[in-house]
Amino acid sequence: MNDIRPDFLLTSLPRRYGLLALVWCVVAGVSLLWNLQAGKQDAVKMAAATVRANIQKDFGLRKWVNSHGGVYVSPTGHTPPNPYLNVPERDVVTTTGKALTLMNHAYVLREIQTDFPDDYGVMSRISSLHPLNPLNAADEWESRALASFERGGREYLEILQINGQPHLRMMKPLRVEQECTGCHTRQKTGDVRGGISSSIAMGRFISHRQEHRDNLLLSHGVIWLIGLAALGISYRRDSRVSAERERARQKLEQQLDELLRFQKLTVGRELRMKELVDENAELRRQIDAAPPGNAKS
Ligand code: HEC
Repeated sequence: MNDIRPDFLLTSLPRRYGLLALVWCVVAGVSLLWNLQAGKQDAVKMAAATVRANIQKDFGLRKWVNSHGGVYVSPTGHTPPNPYLNVPERDVVTTTGKALTLMNHAYVLREIQTDFPDDYGVMSRISSLHPLNPLNAADEWESRALASFERGGREYLEILQINGQPHLRMMKPLRVEQECTGCHTRQKTGDVRGGISSSIAMGRFISHRQEHRDNLLLSHGVIWLIGLAALGISYRRDSRVSAERERARQKLEQQLDELLRFQKLTVGRELRMKELVDENAELRRQIDAAPPGNAKS
């Protein structure tokens, strides 16, 4: 007779181990998914850190050029005097007769960025919603970023397709400071003058992520299998123990049965004995009650 108890789920060995195995699979699965997700975010974080560092470097370069009020270089066909720079000593001649032209920060940056494109697919640009130089006009994405800076944002970042490849694009604002107003006369300090945007191809971060994903799959797979194997071994041991326990219980029951039978026998015998004694006493009583002489006749 197999009545199903409410704790049947946990008392039946195969079910208990089945449940444990299920829990183990869920734990391993959740950990894998969580790590994969974290890895995905890590790729974006790493790409963002690289782009941020690049923008920071451009900021530093800009600051350096500005701190000198621009830098003088020999004008060439490639680097002509900047028509958008209106300062008194833009073009000078040295005492030895060498012509020099002043390069302002945006000019230096643009020339470096276009002449020395980064090997890693990093592209930077300075831009504005109100550019002095039409070349610096913000594109659609930059306009969105600049609008967010005007609402107080400090960084704008997005993953998008550039030339069919996923890129991380980031922009940081350039706000007007006292030192800017000499050349940028129309703005007041604190205004968003423009910003520097930079993008990087996600390719190498994605392949890094794939490597990371393969490692995760392998390590989780191995740990998952070890866990299952441990459960299997433990299950075998437990079922052996419980089989032994069952055998012992059956033996005990048998012995108990025998004991009961024996006890019944003894009790029966005692009853019979008592009956005999009683019968005996009754006989004796009848004999004693019989008239004397009768016995001898
Ligand atoms: C020495 C003059 C000078 C100073 C100082 C200066 N700029 Fe400029 N800046 C220019 C010129 C000229 C251009 C545009 C010419 C170009 O792109 O070659 C420009 C361009 C820019 C641009 C790109 C958009 C545009 O207008 O073409 C931004 C953004 C900008 N400046 C921000 C600043 C900020 C912020 C400061 C102060 C921290 C500053 N500038 C200081 C001369 C200056």
